[in-house]
Amino acid sequence: MCGIVGYVGKKNAENTLLEGLKRLEYRGYDSSGIAIVKNGKITSKKAVGKIINLENLLSGKNLDARIGISHTRWATHGKPTEENAHPHLSCDGNLAVVHNGIIENYQTLREELKKKGHKFLSQTDSEVLAHLIEEFYEKKDLKHAVCEALKLVEGTYGITAIANDNSDEIIAARKGSPLVLGIGDNENFIASDVAAILGYTKQVVYLNDGEIARVTKDNFEITDLDDRKIDCEISKIDWTLEESQRGGHDHFMLKEIMEQPRVIVDSTRGRLLPEEGTVRLGGLEDVEAKLRKIERIIIIACGTARYAGLIGEYMMEEYAEISVEVEFASEFRYRKPILDEKTAVLAVSQSGETADTLAAIREAKRKGALTLGIVNVVGSTIARETDAGVYNHAGPEIAVASTKAFTSQLVVLTLMAVLLGRQRKMSEVTGRRIIEEIETLPKKIEKILKSADKIKKLAKKYADYPNFMYLGRKYCFPLAEEGALKLKEISYIHSEGFAAGEMKHGSIALIDENFPVFAIAPKDSVYEKNISNIEEILARKGKIIILTTEGNKEAEKIADDVIYIPKTLEMLTPILGVVPLQLFAYYIASYKGLDVDKPRNLAKSVTVE
Ligand code: M6R
Repeated sequence: MCGIVGYVGKKNAENTLLEGLKRLEYRGYDSSGIAIVKNGKITSKKAVGKIINLENLLSGKNLDARIGISHTRWATHGKPTEENAHPHLSCDGNLAVVHNGIIENYQTLREELKKKGHKFLSQTDSEVLAHLIEEFYEKKDLKHAVCEALKLVEGTYGITAIANDNSDEIIAARKGSPLVLGIGDNENFIASDVAAILGYTKQVVYLNDGEIARVTKDNFEITDLDDRKIDCEISKIDWTLEESQRGGHDHFMLKEIMEQPRVIVDSTRGRLLPEEGTVRLGGLEDVEAKLRKIERIIIIACGTARYAGLIGEYMMEEYAEISVEVEFASEFRYRKPILDEKTAVLAVSQSGETADTLAAIREAKRKGALTLGIVNVVGSTIARETDAGVYNHAGPEIAVASTKAFTSQLVVLTLMAVLLGRQRKMSEVTGRRIIEEIETLPKKIEKILKSADKIKKLAKKYADYPNFMYLGRKYCFPLAEEGALKLKEISYIHSEGFAAGEMKHGSIALIDENFPVFAIAPKDSVYEKNISNIEEILARKGKIIILTTEGNKEAEKIADDVIYIPKTLEMLTPILGVVPLQLFAYYIASYKGLDVDKPRNLAKSVTVE
């Protein structure tokens, strides 16, 4: 996820662009840049890090342009460096492009363009767009060149482009990554979302997939890539600036929960090979031979990432038949872990900066183990220091409580289980079955999200209980722990997750009518055993919410309340099951009027040991 802002009008372009970028900083902030056209010449400036660095770089430069495009980057391909920051320029410097999305066939395009003499300066997928547009720019018709270039592109994009000899127009096109036109008075804007332009105009046109716009200061026209005119509707925005950054939601946490269908698509994009019943994980290709030889994996992580790791343990043992252990990163180096060339150490971390996880990875490296990462933040320390790894592509997670990063970690762990399994004994049929089921998950999550109001009502009913117990078995045991963590960290209600079968060995003593239990009991291989544990709670007058599979009417007969999720493979159940748990915790905390996105005593990234 990156942020784009374009401006053409009567104001100082670089100041307007900088203001817009600052409002999109939540979309990513590892580097930023602008390009303007003045006196028939493009000038581009880029800086690594937050937008303040770009602002400092521009201060005193007095570019004083009236047209420009800009970008704040959330790296997906290539490290957060100045070369990889946008805008990207054509070889002759006459065109500049910014891009949000992923160009899936960029390697093929890059090779073809190199053969034609194009020189690439970055490792990004986006740079191919600048060179590809240059190929079609011989008639100096920028819109035509962009259309022809985009016809060759596979993947997703929101792009804006400018050219030195079309110094009054910006071209913007969308497929899969959002773009909105802001209609002003003798000035027009383009942005990834309305937050960037709300300070200037409330009149907007949302571009749809497949549409391209030519925007000048007093006009705009929208067509498809074959130049067929499209009639558009001007909408009026009545959000405040802050509301718009949260996509109209009350909190980033809710926005991030709602983004999960899109996150599953992004974290699997270009990685599924259904026909071969396997996956392609580019970040592991260099160590593929080593991976074939490993017999043991140690997963190290903290908090939510560790619960994802525990679910990964069940997946890899069942489907890849590799022995897996999951360690608290903070404990790893106080033990004497036995590591050999047949052991890989896998760090799971959203931020890629968690001090305990980083220290554990360094220790594993020192002992000569193969180190791997599942990391969301591209170019973060763990991503850089591990031997190989896979990015989640969940986009920036702002709320302290991790939600979409968790689901994307589970998706990547599933993909790794398939990769390792197919290297060993997993059949093509099994691989295909898992991949086909992964492809159905976004729709199934959307269905769960539609029942958010029901979970909201349930949250109101239970908001005043001081304690909660979460129970689950097998794949849903770590999920029970994650559900309890979500509730305690944002609502400050004491909650614990237990293995359902373990409860009778002590914790059941806590249960009475004031101690509700959230039982995660999908219709899977351990359902009957879960029901036995639920009966034990009912016998002690405990209140029960059951999370189970659609169609299971039995649950309604025994539970106080039931939440349903669609059926899926047992290994994938936590990806669906976590969504109601996130919503339940979220609504309880918001009923209590708590600071959901920034709970007390916590930090998003824990960089101290
Ligand atoms: O950035 P990381 O994934 O390494 O962070 C690990 C934990 O600090 C994190 O998951 C934490 O538990 C979250 N606040 C949970 O919502």
